[in-house]
Amino acid sequence: MTTRVFSGVQPTGNLHLGNYLGAIVNFVKLQATHECIYCVVDLHAITVPMSVWGGPDELRRNTREVTAAFIAAGIDPKKQIIFNQSQVAGHAELTWVFNCVARLGWLNRMTQFKEKAGKDRENASIGLYDYPVLMASDILLYRATHVPVGEDQKQHLELARDIAQKFNNDFSESIASTGQNEKYFPLPEPVITGPATRVMSLRDGTKKMSKSDPSDYSRINLTDDADAIAQKIRKAKTDPEPLPSEEKGLEARPEADNLVGIYAALSGKPKADVLGEFGGAQFSGFKSNLVDLAVNKLSPIAAEMKRLTQDQAYVDQVLIDGAERANVIATETINAVKDIVGFIRKR
Ligand code: AMP
Ligand code: TRP
Repeated sequence: MTTRVFSGVQPTGNLHLGNYLGAIVNFVKLQATHECIYCVVDLHAITVPMSVWGGPDELRRNTREVTAAFIAAGIDPKKQIIFNQSQVAGHAELTWVFNCVARLGWLNRMTQFKEKAGKDRENASIGLYDYPVLMASDILLYRATHVPVGEDQKQHLELARDIAQKFNNDFSESIASTGQNEKYFPLPEPVITGPATRVMSLRDGTKKMSKSDPSDYSRINLTDDADAIAQKIRKAKTDPEPLPSEEKGLEARPEADNLVGIYAALSGKPKADVLGEFGGAQFSGFKSNLVDLAVNKLSPIAAEMKRLTQDQAYVDQVLIDGAERANVIATETINAVKDIVGFIRKR
């Protein structure tokens, strides 16, 4: 079976170390072995109130910034596809069909909706509720088989599999009669790997590092300069004990666990090796090493992002080229889905 990778990142500002280590690092790795499609999911961005996504100018700015981050991190836009979701109409079209496949009960279980909607659920947008169906459409529009994401997206991936399976079952006869493989939509597999699939806030090791945390000290942004990175790591919350020598010593020490995980992910070593090196050391010494490592790894990306965001014409052209190539694959799927469902179309 052919494999294809798809993933998305929302253009909602403050791309941070969690996005990088949880997702983008794996995007870069997978391009060596797979055909990859990476999408800036602008349709998803507008599911929260405009005061949160920032309005049209901010959306354009953030869309270009995520694109720049993909390229700066090492994704080759000539070999792989990088594009923004709204340029390929198939995402919205397939969502409608999947809205009629997915069940209310399935969506009611989505924990991210509950978190994002908060107490005032009546006032949440319908788009926020439907967010996981749009995400399933993103993946299945390209019949992608592998989806690199951070751990927080696991439940959404399970929903995408459920939708694919129900579509294949509901339309099995029609799928066969249109000459398609009985498993028209593959069941996409999450790729959640590495020592930092869930990077935590630098201020509170029990909270996820997030774009929306009001404290900038809670996260390292991909655009932070060396001074900012150093300050944030030095101020990061820790506990008074020295570092343990073995992984089980990190249990119930969320801040220590998080910093060791970040070091491991940035250095490409397992956590056990990091503890082998730093076990027994005080945090002050470990933090100085982490600052050097983080600055070494992240500063070149920040510099390249800065250069690219100044070249707006180039970045926009990457998205346009990518969308054209994505649209070829998407159109094939949309046409097949139309035939399977029974929508008449021009041939
Ligand atoms: P988002 O910015 O919500 O579009 O997320 C983009 C990608 O980053 C997704 O694959 C998320 O799972 C991943 N991600 C976001 N926050 C974190 C985090 N704190 N740790 C690890 N991965 C994360
Ligand atoms: N929901 C994902 C997030 O917040 C972003 C996303 C949208 C995505 N569509 C996707 C990720 C498809 C993987 C595949 O991180």
